[in-house]
Amino acid sequence: MSYSPAITGAGVYTPVESISNAELVEAFNAYADKFNAENAVAIAAGDVEAKDHSSEDFILKASGIESRYVMDKSGVLNPDIMYPQMRQRQDDEPGIMAEMAVDAARKALAQAGRKPSDVDAVICAASNMERAYPAVAIEIQDLLGIDGFAFDMNVACSSATFGIQAAADMVRSGSVRSALVVNPEICSGHLEWRDRDCHFIFGDVATATLIEREEDAKGPRFDILSTRCATSFSNNIRNNNGFLRRSRPDGVKDRRDMQFMQNGRKVFKEVLPLVSQHISTHLQEEGVPHTQLKRLWLHQANKQMNDFIGKKVLGRTPAPGEQPNILQEYANTSSAGSIIAFSQNSEDLSEGDVGLICSFGAGYSVGSVIVQRRA
Ligand code: COA
Repeated sequence: MSYSPAITGAGVYTPVESISNAELVEAFNAYADKFNAENAVAIAAGDVEAKDHSSEDFILKASGIESRYVMDKSGVLNPDIMYPQMRQRQDDEPGIMAEMAVDAARKALAQAGRKPSDVDAVICAASNMERAYPAVAIEIQDLLGIDGFAFDMNVACSSATFGIQAAADMVRSGSVRSALVVNPEICSGHLEWRDRDCHFIFGDVATATLIEREEDAKGPRFDILSTRCATSFSNNIRNNNGFLRRSRPDGVKDRRDMQFMQNGRKVFKEVLPLVSQHISTHLQEEGVPHTQLKRLWLHQANKQMNDFIGKKVLGRTPAPGEQPNILQEYANTSSAGSIIAFSQNSEDLSEGDVGLICSFGAGYSVGSVIVQRRA
């Protein structure tokens, strides 16, 4: 016996605080000036490289990003700190990722007309976990009051689509009746805010999707027609620390490779053909002509990248609204980006309309989900 999976609800938790490009650049430039003053002798001797100013124009032109939401604005913008200062939670209180995910999950459940007791499994799929164990997903399961089981998974920016594939496969096989996939992303915790080349890239957010049997859906839904995941090892996006930095306690060496690192140019060049080809092959093998695609919800890293992929897949420049971007407001939110785009730009689709969710990033990794609107 096999069942057909559908996305019946999606939700987004958006942090209260946001940082505009102007605020970000002002803080970075103050930090750079201070660094240069403190290291004037070494810079003059050629032993240390002076830090250049960042620029709003560059950020907007290179990425399309205008602002980002963060869990702690004051730490990030303080030139003496330059990282989010999140209070270390006690072991008997909810973790910060769990709290964000629970908010997004409740919204997804509300859209689906479901209660936590209707859910059988929770997958927490994100780029960085707040701790190694117990799994953050199990804490979320507990906070929501869900029976069954939960587990964490990490495929960096592709975590959400890989999580949806795992959930859809479980629903299809009958091992669960419904599963929540949550993507709490505290990207501010692993971004090096003191590095001009990347300080503008990320923001914080959490997203959630509920995957159920089509036949169980209580309202409009998106049938999951097919999923496809692929990975190919690359060091061009890498974080050697592997967990969120809450502080820089004495004695911990503050190495650059402990934060997000990327070779942005290479990523741009190598990932574009990988993703365009992945989507085109997926559509072809499922017998879905690109002319049938009503919407593309792409990973949100860079506007130019998305414009390129949209054009390549559709064979023409996408019409306004066909390939919605949210990165101007949210920046790159890792795995959550394509799900924010989906959650905020899907309810207007009509019965039978076909769309594609696609995320891509570190690994390299790329995941695509072909969905069909059912009223
Ligand atoms: N302000 C002003 N100038 C800046 C700057 C900033 N914040 N950051 C970099 N520059 C400068 C560089 O120093 C460089 O100067 P140079 O030409 O004198 O050497 C110039 O601007 C171009 O820098 P470059 O890094 O080559 O920019 P880019 O056009 O490649 O854009 C990215 C940078 C990161 C936006 C772009 O490469 C990208 O989006 N890559 C893919 C990223 C991605 O998807 N990552 C996935 C993460 S999950």
